[in-house]
Amino acid sequence: MVQSFSPHVFADYDQLSAAAARVVMEKMVMGIETKGKFVLGCATGSTPEGLYKHLISLLAKQDLDLSRLYTVNLDEYFPIKRSDPQSYYHFMLTHLWQPLAAVNSSFDYQSQTFVPNGEATDADTECRAYEEKIKAMGGVDIQIVGIGVNGHIGFNEPGSPADSRTRTVTLESSTVEANSRFFGSIDQVPKQALTMGIGTILEAKEILVLASGKAKAPILKALWVLEEPTVAIPASWLLSHPQVSFFIDREAQTE
Ligand code: F6R
Repeated sequence: MVQSFSPHVFADYDQLSAAAARVVMEKMVMGIETKGKFVLGCATGSTPEGLYKHLISLLAKQDLDLSRLYTVNLDEYFPIKRSDPQSYYHFMLTHLWQPLAAVNSSFDYQSQTFVPNGEATDADTECRAYEEKIKAMGGVDIQIVGIGVNGHIGFNEPGSPADSRTRTVTLESSTVEANSRFFGSIDQVPKQALTMGIGTILEAKEILVLASGKAKAPILKALWVLEEPTVAIPASWLLSHPQVSFFIDREAQTE
């Protein structure tokens, strides 16, 4: 069953991002101070950019030991070079890791961050090792999730099983098209990806889902009326998580 809950609706993208960053920072401070460690599950794409920007500003004002902060990403194109400006590795480097290391020298992104390796020679071995890495870290404390216009989470496209684990997937044409805005042309978008599975994502202790802008309104509308999760909408499985929050802006809200 899905639980009944209401999304937190913010006036605009910046307010949504600022609020999400405050939540992440509070959990991070608590995790580091009480457990001595915090594992942040990261998403890429346009939606979390504002969160990362606000999080860096907040952390710049804190004297927090970030040597026990770990980040683990949902997904990566496959194959892709880490140095490719469109790789999710590169996205994290520029939007979070380097700016964070610049304001807090205890954060060593070389050893504290994990993204599925788009350069792996054996994708299956990489996916299994990624699952092991997450387990060895004690699981994800809070996972940030964005939603595709077709309801995908990570690169779990419609039809992905609820118990799926980290694996190689083929992208839907709507996803390739949506992501072509970042590449020179649609032909340059990799057609495969390595992604945490839905089962992997649902094991996070807490999930923070972000959605902004008109383009996300139809898929959110479809979510709110569901009574049961469905494989047709991967994001619907998030509704069954005991600790999930949706932060959306007014544009993404349906009338
Ligand atoms: C990215 C990811 C994707 C995006 C989704 C929304 O790591 O997992 O599922 O969250 O495609 O993308 P944006 O935020 O660009 O609309």
